[in-house]
Amino acid sequence: MTKRLLATLRQEIPDRSPFWFMRQAGRYLPEYRALRAQASDFVALCLTPKLAVEITLQPLRRFGMDAAILFSDILMVPYGLGVPLRFEEGRGPLLKAVREAKDIPAFDAVSFHARVAPIYDTVAGVRAVLPKDAALIGFAGSPWTVASYMVEGGSSKDFQAVKAWAYHDPEGFSRLIGVLAEATVEYLSRQVEAGAEVLQLFDSWAGVLDETLFARWVVAPTRAIVSALKSRYPHVPIIGFARRAGTMTESYLRETGVNAVGLDETVPLAAARALPGVIQGNLDNVLLLADRAAMLARTEEILTAWQGRPFVFNLGHGILPTTPVEHVAALAERLRAA
Ligand code: CP3
Repeated sequence: MTKRLLATLRQEIPDRSPFWFMRQAGRYLPEYRALRAQASDFVALCLTPKLAVEITLQPLRRFGMDAAILFSDILMVPYGLGVPLRFEEGRGPLLKAVREAKDIPAFDAVSFHARVAPIYDTVAGVRAVLPKDAALIGFAGSPWTVASYMVEGGSSKDFQAVKAWAYHDPEGFSRLIGVLAEATVEYLSRQVEAGAEVLQLFDSWAGVLDETLFARWVVAPTRAIVSALKSRYPHVPIIGFARRAGTMTESYLRETGVNAVGLDETVPLAAARALPGVIQGNLDNVLLLADRAAMLARTEEILTAWQGRPFVFNLGHGILPTTPVEHVAALAERLRAA
């Protein structure tokens, strides 16, 4: 059985475009909320393979996606580096802020892998029971986006602290990015060894940088990670999601060496079609929750635009917790019809 996602990432054109959705496992699913209640907190959930395997598979059982994405979080890399991390209801992630060079954690492979080892067990556990036509996606955040949470101490609206550091002390900041890049290569390598068949790098906040910072803190570390992984695992495709990168997406695609690029909903289809290679995207996640008929109409436009091209259907950003399950079901039903 050839897996549609893997074929598409090799630039083949299968019987229909494969699909999966960012945040396909999560709070919009009642069965997720039920398992979530069994763990003491979100970090514990990510570190409990029995629950994380089940949560990874929940959306595929309902909707028959072409891929499962490991259930975990991009902030498990700082956690592995020893940074205190917790998720609070309504406030999102909270981390002990790293504000200057002396606070940067060191990457020690032994203690890092020991802290996140249950995540590798989850990957192996999912791979062992995955439907045979579905692919398993492993992931990590890209250094810039992960650094933004580490420096801001959580979510941010204007990224003032992390951008100010990148501007006034590029040498010091490059040490943080370097530690994250090294940890990310080792972390994703273990995911591949455990059974991940595709990797996605999430750079959710790539779009807040000017061109100079974008080249140095998004493109350069992504290229380093991709080239290290490609030298170890030349056949494992890598999808880069540089959200809101706009006109800088083309340089990202060309210069990083990713096999495919994930686009957010703000990229027009005509501009997306002018990009080389494999594209993933880009239905608005708010349209998915807001209006079922309009969502299905936009889906037709997207599918029509990509006919005859290697394309992976996805959202422009993750499924939101208030999304009606029936809307996701209607979208999946349309996408499964060849
Ligand atoms: O996509 C999937 O289904 C796989 C699992 C996954 C999660 N987070 C689970 C999660 C993945 C791939 C992520 C990536 C992630 N995490 C990103 C990059 C993608 C994006 O959305 O931009 C980022 C920036 C994070 C950091 C993060 N994790 C934030 C800011 C929050 C709080 C906001 C929120 O939605 O609660 C999380 C928590 C989180 N990660 C949840 C889930 C299911 C909700 C936690 C809960 O159940 O309370």
